[in-house]
Amino acid sequence: MASIPRAGHLDSSLAFLREGYEFVGRRCRSLGVDLFRTRLLGRTFHCAQGAEAAAMFYHPGRFTRAGALPSSVLKLLQDEGSVATLDAAAHRHRKAMLMSLMSPAALEDMAARAAVALRRRAESWPARGEVGLHAEFRASLGEAVCDWAGLALEPAAQARLTDQLGAMIDNAGRIGPANWIARLRRQGAERDLARRIAAVREGRATAPEGSALQVIAFHQNPDGSLLSEALAAVELLNILRPTVAIARFMVFAALALHEHPAARPGLAEPDRLLAFVQEVRRLAPFFPIVGGIARSGFSWRGVDFPAGSRFILDLYGTNRDGRSWEAPLEFRPDRFLGWAGNPFTLIPQGGGDHFTGHRCAGEWLTIAVMQAMLRVLALELHYQVPPQDLSVDLSRMPALPRSGFLVRA
Ligand code: HEM
Repeated sequence: MASIPRAGHLDSSLAFLREGYEFVGRRCRSLGVDLFRTRLLGRTFHCAQGAEAAAMFYHPGRFTRAGALPSSVLKLLQDEGSVATLDAAAHRHRKAMLMSLMSPAALEDMAARAAVALRRRAESWPARGEVGLHAEFRASLGEAVCDWAGLALEPAAQARLTDQLGAMIDNAGRIGPANWIARLRRQGAERDLARRIAAVREGRATAPEGSALQVIAFHQNPDGSLLSEALAAVELLNILRPTVAIARFMVFAALALHEHPAARPGLAEPDRLLAFVQEVRRLAPFFPIVGGIARSGFSWRGVDFPAGSRFILDLYGTNRDGRSWEAPLEFRPDRFLGWAGNPFTLIPQGGGDHFTGHRCAGEWLTIAVMQAMLRVLALELHYQVPPQDLSVDLSRMPALPRSGFLVRA
């Protein structure tokens, strides 16, 4: 252990909350390392950054997520028994079910619905003066994903669910009352979805063949049993909530478009559209880190780490690591033209393999939806960007431009 430098002698939890996305990177820079130890929440954590660290972290089966996140975050973003907290064969079985929802046809369907919903909402912009793009993207995605997932809700119920999903994302990085209120609202959403699952199972409601609602309702555990209604609702939420969260990436896409107007016409070309989306995902501050606990002992760089060692992988810093990216802080979508791909350098949604590891189940859906919505925003809609505070507070996780990005049609 002696070879791993230590950052701070006291607990760094408050510094982590204060510094947010920059916490790991700052300490790596000042110590001149890509791995250090620190104390968070009263325990020792190893914090690592970069592609080599990502390959170590995403070594199949090495880390469990169970117990790795503080419960204030877990209770809003995942839950006990959900795919993220499973390991080994149980994880692979549940993950295969979620990945079965991500066929190319299903992604195309969801992307098309998101584009239609955004176009329709934008029709109301001229009559509304200034509109906040974050809310507009969120509402469009809520409408699109509820239909795509097979929920077919009345408009009022769908707007309420979208609000509940939004509150879970907004408050995941907070502690105290805002977090507790969002948790209560999450429980309300879970109860409604659990009732819906029960109705589908009992034939009192229908769900389109192959929809998330139908697939999750009838998914069988390896022993042939169905998921409990509560757990099925949790997995459905794990599809709905992060899809609504794509609104945050879309705000950063709108910001990049605003700052790089010359890129706009090129977005008619599929390659350039994809490259732009990848560059937005690389640079946008979203999930700062992922945490894991070693399931058994392993060695890395000549150091033995015992079972139970706690690690934090810096997603934000790895996406901006100068060892992997030329001019890493510059917005240069062209770097992705002809990019061969790499599971450990571009990791805004985790790294490694989607099926055997914990890499985000919705990454392909995120990319497909962003391309479709960006195409509408950049090539079809006309809007002005009035003067406003577009700066981003990096101590707020998840982050957004302070104004929420206002536009006027
Ligand atoms: C909005 C942008 C998104 C971001 C930034 C994001 C980020 C992440 C991250 C960092 C992880 C954890 C990876 C790990 O533990 O190593 C994750 C896991 C996950 N994400 Fe996403 N995600 C997004 C969108 C989505 C979407 C659209 C869906 C579903 C449609 C989704 C479903 C999941 C699921 C089910 C997991 C757990 C996977 C597992 O443990 O195997 N995410 N995501």
